[in-house]
Amino acid sequence: MVLLGTFITFEGPDGSGKSTQARLLAQRLASLGVDVVLTREPGGTPLGERVRRVLLDRDGVRHAARADALLFAAARAQHVDDVIVPALRRGAVVICDRYADSTVAYQGYGSGVPLERLRELGAFATRGLQPRRTILLDLPVDAGLARRSAGEPEGLTRFETADVFDAAFHERVRMGFLELAKVEPARWLVVDADRPADVIAREIFVSIADLLELTHEAM
Ligand code: TYD
Repeated sequence: MVLLGTFITFEGPDGSGKSTQARLLAQRLASLGVDVVLTREPGGTPLGERVRRVLLDRDGVRHAARADALLFAAARAQHVDDVIVPALRRGAVVICDRYADSTVAYQGYGSGVPLERLRELGAFATRGLQPRRTILLDLPVDAGLARRSAGEPEGLTRFETADVFDAAFHERVRMGFLELAKVEPARWLVVDADRPADVIAREIFVSIADLLELTHEAM
């Protein structure tokens, strides 16, 4: 299968500003005439959005961490087949807000599901499709959770309710992401997210410009 496009993912703890940065990058590329698809996980397809509600609603239903991993993977499989691969085939830049690394960080490092099992599950769900570049927005846990709880309480997901997913959980998730980035430095860009959004956006743009062979005028 020939995939002409470029697949870029954003990862990071809750409240790191990932979704804002994914949107800013997509807008900037679109303004340069690049064919860009901005999408997110869990979600991105009708089935994925349904699974998203099952996963994130704060309805008190108990979830085993393995069940979560399988549900995230199910949504991902649909997303890869229906959105990501078709866009990459036609040569688009696909920007995805969270992808398989989130399952390793949250269900693996965070909740203790064996990492090896999650890698196998990830390869199955994605058909082995890996991002060319993954941008990690790194932020101390306190700062991220403070940003999130300053927002609308209805916007909080199950993973942000402190009874199950406490600060120690989010600390493990953060360390997990940093560990993943260390193991595969060619794919990951670690960005300090505790800075103004425009400064971060510029750093991200410069780092992906080489990947997309954008000319200097674009920068
Ligand atoms: P979302 O509202 O998209 O939050 P954020 O803006 O922080 O991305 O909620 C996604 C939540 O689901 C987030 O807390 C991380 C969690 N998650 C996992 O635990 N595993 C996964 O594989 C994915 C994709 C997300």
